[in-house]
Amino acid sequence: MPTQPIYTITTHSEDETRRLGFLLGTIAHAGDTIALTGDLGAGKTRFAQGFGRGLGVPDDEVINSPTFTLVNQYAGRLPCYHIDLYRLTTAAEAETLGLDDYFYTDGVCLVEWANRIPDDLPEEVITIDLHHLTETERRITICATGAGATARISQLQLLWEKEKRYEPTNPQTG
Ligand SMILES: Nc1ncnc2c1ncn2[C@@H]1O[C@H](COP(=O)(O)OP(=O)(O)O)[C@@H](O)[C@H]1O
Ligand SMILES: [Mg+2]
Repeated sequence: MPTQPIYTITTHSEDETRRLGFLLGTIAHAGDTIALTGDLGAGKTRFAQGFGRGLGVPDDEVINSPTFTLVNQYAGRLPCYHIDLYRLTTAAEAETLGLDDYFYTDGVCLVEWANRIPDDLPEEVITIDLHHLTETERRITICATGAGATARISQLQLLWEKEKRYEPTNPQTG
């Protein structure tokens, strides 16, 4: 499944990563799948938390990686299914999980460690890859396959750049 890198940004704090997630949450459509990749501590869950708020999940509802269950479900303006495949040991195991019940639905799916099931993701997907640069900086590479996902990324880029125009480029000295 070829994905084309289309947008790379660097965030300088967990709040900035949450904000990026938030903005994507505000524009997500039913049936969207967000694949989150990157090492442990890269910021996948922080991004998911911001995304959920942007989707309208109330502030008093905790958004965290599912631990004992495979999927956490939150109610925003659309249902939000938060999947974490960290504990998955083989791709074959994924087939027993019934992930298709969450993909292609009335809701939005966020999949942490999505790279563990490359063949079982929907064809149309937004991939958010987070890479640890320094203690507080992450390089975030955003890719899309499919028309809807590509449109969402373009819109996200516009929203992000619009915000950045009004902010100091260096949050430490600004
Ligand atoms: N720019 C940043 N973006 C996201 N997280 C950051 C950033 N800088 C530091 N962090 C820290 O990195 C950790 C990310 O944790 P988490 O989101 O749970 O990662 P993952 O789900 O990828 O394992 C948190 O402790 C957070 O405070
Ligand atoms: Mg996580």
